[in-house]
Amino acid sequence: MIVLDHVEKIYRSPKHGDVVALEDIRLEIRRGEIFGIVGHSGAGKSTLLRLLNGLEKPTSGRVTVNGITISESSERELREVRKKIGMIFQHFHLLWSRTVWENVAFPLELAGKSKKEIREKVDTLLERVGLAHRANAYPSQLSGGQKQRVGIARALANDPVLLLCDEATSALDPETTASILELLKEIHRDTGITMVIITHEMSVVKRLCQRMAVMEDGKIVEQGNVETLFNNPRHPVTRQFVESLITEKAESEQHTALLRIHADKLDRLWSHLAARVKQGVTATILPDAAEQDDRVALKISGPKEAVQDAVEAISEENREVISHV
Ligand SMILES: Nc1ncnc2c1ncn2[C@@H]1O[C@H](COP(=O)(O)OP(=O)(O)OP(=O)(O)O)[C@@H](O)[C@H]1O
Ligand SMILES: [Mg+2]
Repeated sequence: MIVLDHVEKIYRSPKHGDVVALEDIRLEIRRGEIFGIVGHSGAGKSTLLRLLNGLEKPTSGRVTVNGITISESSERELREVRKKIGMIFQHFHLLWSRTVWENVAFPLELAGKSKKEIREKVDTLLERVGLAHRANAYPSQLSGGQKQRVGIARALANDPVLLLCDEATSALDPETTASILELLKEIHRDTGITMVIITHEMSVVKRLCQRMAVMEDGKIVEQGNVETLFNNPRHPVTRQFVESLITEKAESEQHTALLRIHADKLDRLWSHLAARVKQGVTATILPDAAEQDDRVALKISGPKEAVQDAVEAISEENREVISHV
């Protein structure tokens, strides 16, 4: 579906000197797969994506998408190719003076579709992304997740064969991110569209992608099966990303309970806590609340089940526990 063959991209600037944004990129993305590209800021991810729809031309090397050599196409050919490539962005890039409905209609108008075709298509797409009830709203009246749903509907308007996503969930909170990823997954399942997902969040890759590439300083430093790379990351940058996921996950699963308890009963609960240290439970006496009415505030943190377990054991033995948070 996509082949990048020895691709190099240099941004030339007489003022600031040359920037080598991509160096010897060799990459193949298969039809119908969801391919992830991760890398730190400035690694060259967006540049790579812009080569795929011809917004940038490589300095050398060849870019082929769906059998067409993008790197050698004329502007006129590229306009045709771009109709079959949808793109969604971190900051949505919606038209603020147009309603939701009109935003989705826009690419269809550009493609010269009839009024009837446009009406049917936009209605179907808004239904698909769960925004039919907001058709007449303006982007400024929508939440971030809803704005991205408009972006997705618009990207799908001309039935693309390829969807490019540049940090599509980076401006969204975790819950909204999850719902957008779910929507992308459903769309992939229903249409079999090829997707290229750029992200700096490994959790996005994990939830969505089958294969991935890791970029650093304009180069692909590692690529392969997502599961393989997660289980056996070889390059330090890949390792760093995989570890970031573990921290991300651990933080999201961290649970805290706050107990108030008589100071002279503290001795008795240490045994309950000590027994759970191995499971990652930690306990702290909160200094500012200490010794109020002979009671202290105790914060217990750790994996949810272990914390709940500890709290239960303590509460059973200590009727003096007066509050849980
Ligand atoms: N139009 C441009 N002109 C000059 N240099 C550019 C241009 N676009 C990008 N660059 C440079 O090319 C390199 C790669 O940039 P790119 O935007 O592809 O990185 P990225 O991986 O998408 O980063 P981010 O995660 O911050 O979006 C950077 O050093 C950047 O400064
Ligand atoms: Mg970028």
